[in-house]
Amino acid sequence: MLSKRVKEVLNAQINAEIWSAHFYLSMSLYFGGEGYRGFSRWMKKQYREDMTHAMQMMDYMIEQGDRVILQDITGIPTVFEDIVTTFEQALVHLVRITDAIDTLADVVEGENDKATRIFLDKYILGQVLAEARMNQILTQLKRMNQEIGVYMLDKELYEVCEIKR
Ligand SMILES: [Fe+2]
Repeated sequence: MLSKRVKEVLNAQINAEIWSAHFYLSMSLYFGGEGYRGFSRWMKKQYREDMTHAMQMMDYMIEQGDRVILQDITGIPTVFEDIVTTFEQALVHLVRITDAIDTLADVVEGENDKATRIFLDKYILGQVLAEARMNQILTQLKRMNQEIGVYMLDKELYEVCEIKR
């Protein structure tokens, strides 16, 4: 059984993951519209990952016999400046999600909920990997200021991000 507090914070995290997914989707659509197929595909992959996180957390709550409440998805940015700025925004957002998951883990620990705490492990570790990947792309982007470099990275991401239809 989940405590009232754990239910609240998990439900909030589910909504945060869904919001996050839509933020990435919006960036994917921006890149798609600009003709960057690789960056678009990479952001779509982030969308899928966060929707998967939300679904897994929903299943976890449902398995515990709890009800999940969805919130409206509002305030998704739709206007983006350029490639680097967009990836910078994505990184700032990603760090915020990391902080939210850390706070979630603190609450769960405070409630002495061992199962939920273990359940959160993969998300805590997943954020480390996600930040590393995002930082890597950003570093590469900042190093290159020529169109050819951006073209090559876009091509590379297009090839590494497999699309499931
Ligand atoms: Fe996530």
